[in-house]
Amino acid sequence: MTDNSKILARDGRNGDFGPFFANWIRHPIAMGAVAPSSRSYCRTMVEKSSVAIEGPILELGPGLGAVTRALLEKGVDPSRITSIEYSENFADALKQRFPEINVIQGDGFDLDKTLGERRNETFAAILFAIPIVSQKASWRQNLFRDYFSRLRSGGNITQLSYMWKPPVPAVPGVFSVSSSDFIWDNIPPARVWIYERDLAFSEIDA
Ligand SMILES: C[S@@+](CC[C@H](N)C(=O)[O-])C[C@H]1O[C@@H](n2cnc3c(N)ncnc32)[C@H](O)[C@@H]1O
Repeated sequence: MTDNSKILARDGRNGDFGPFFANWIRHPIAMGAVAPSSRSYCRTMVEKSSVAIEGPILELGPGLGAVTRALLEKGVDPSRITSIEYSENFADALKQRFPEINVIQGDGFDLDKTLGERRNETFAAILFAIPIVSQKASWRQNLFRDYFSRLRSGGNITQLSYMWKPPVPAVPGVFSVSSSDFIWDNIPPARVWIYERDLAFSEIDA
């Protein structure tokens, strides 16, 4: 584990609600939330994530870095973190806030294009916070099937969601899904959905 205390001390976060809310007014579907995730929510997401596995970590939809910060607080080496954010403003803010991590402004739904030369890299964990519930269930399942092909053995996907049912239905033979309890201090209350690879898929496709 890495001591990230200097990076975290430099990051004085107290003004995120305003910019987050302003972006939600402009792009409510892409934002999916009126406020950044709460600290306890972010901690839970990191606790449930397979970050203990060796290798790079992919964060999709980091916003202004609430979960990124929780990763650093956990002691994850910043050089392991790649955060892909669609909003140019947010990506720029994140680069300034955490220059030690790799921030890419781009589309987390098109990883081949967004990762470019790194497209064939495999990850220890994917932390996912992009709104997708407006998409068809089959589209969501195909997206996660693609993400699983980019995960190392034992790696999982953790997802931010306010839904009561799994936002991405399990695909038998590919991945299963479970969840944390609701975290009530999040706005709105949310839970972490955890997707784990089925053994059959890991043997055939990993
Ligand atoms: C619900 S917010 C989550 C922000 C942060 N992770 C948190 O928990 O506070 C969703 C984020 O996903 C970003 N986003 C939306 N569509 C995206 C896409 N296709 N690729 C990457 N990021 C996207 C939004 O700009 C927004 O910052």
